[in-house]
Amino acid sequence: MGTTALVTGASSGLGVEFARELARRGADLVLVARRQDRLEQLAVQLAESYGTVSTVIPMDLTASDAVSELRADLAERGVRVATLVNNAGFGTFGRLDGIAEQRVHDEVSLNVLALTELTRAFWPELVAHARTSPGNGALVNISSTAAYQPIPFMAVYGATKAYVRSFTEALWWEAKGTGLKVTALAPGATDTEFRQVAANDPVMVGPHQDAATAVATAFRALDARSTPPSVVSGALNAVGARGVGFVPRRSLLTVLGRSIAPS
Ligand SMILES: NC(=O)c1ccc[n+]([C@@H]2O[C@H](COP(=O)([O-])OP(=O)(O)OC[C@H]3O[C@@H](n4cnc5c(N)ncnc54)[C@H](OP(=O)(O)O)[C@@H]3O)[C@@H](O)[C@H]2O)c1
Repeated sequence: MGTTALVTGASSGLGVEFARELARRGADLVLVARRQDRLEQLAVQLAESYGTVSTVIPMDLTASDAVSELRADLAERGVRVATLVNNAGFGTFGRLDGIAEQRVHDEVSLNVLALTELTRAFWPELVAHARTSPGNGALVNISSTAAYQPIPFMAVYGATKAYVRSFTEALWWEAKGTGLKVTALAPGATDTEFRQVAANDPVMVGPHQDAATAVATAFRALDARSTPPSVVSGALNAVGARGVGFVPRRSLLTVLGRSIAPS
């Protein structure tokens, strides 16, 4: 309430739902993604529904100076961020040698590098805000159930999401005593544009959720008296994520590799 939240990947899917819920709770927004028209439409909707002031920043977060430019742009506008939702991300389905090198570079740049640099760049102001207004600001990084086991034919994506989970859980500890809530949300298969972007059918296994349901899981975690370092969306997904740790790696990879092999 009365603070500003920065949401990356706010032009589609989970990012739109994060922005909507944050606006409903009274936050102003910074909306970042490449598709400016989508961001502007969302800004208008949020203003009409909740009186939200949105700053629209169209940008490709894989560009080399993207994060420092974003940081400088917001500083110049006098916008201070209390909540950061690192949501922008994508996956690619296929054998590693069938994926263009540039796409592999962009996937790691967006899912890992931009997320890390954004967290580092905004961490001081997230913590400063949390110290004066404990519990009223958060860092939410979007991981995935893909973080809980390697995924053949989506090897890069699974590895990037394992990074996000590990990175965020470590920061959960570092934030202790500051009042900043930190969590990694791990959605399972969710109906967004993700599948279209990844060009994958077989990997979207398991129960499908809608984006609003997955985002509600993150807010339940943030609203809890003690926010967990990470949270899996959906009871079955949570059981699966915990369960895979007990399955011998070789067997797990054999089942996964056979069930999601490209045709
Ligand atoms: N859907 C699922 O099944 C699922 C499951 C687990 C985790 N996730 C994770 O959830 C997050 C959100 O994905 P989603 O499912 O909502 O997919 P989505 O509908 O495809 O949304 C992805 C968002 O990321 C933005 N984006 C992509 N490349 C970008 C770039 N280079 N620079 C800036 N923004 C960029 C897109 O906006 P523009 O194209 O306009 O730039 C879009 O707003 C991702 O991190 C994804 O890995 C999704």
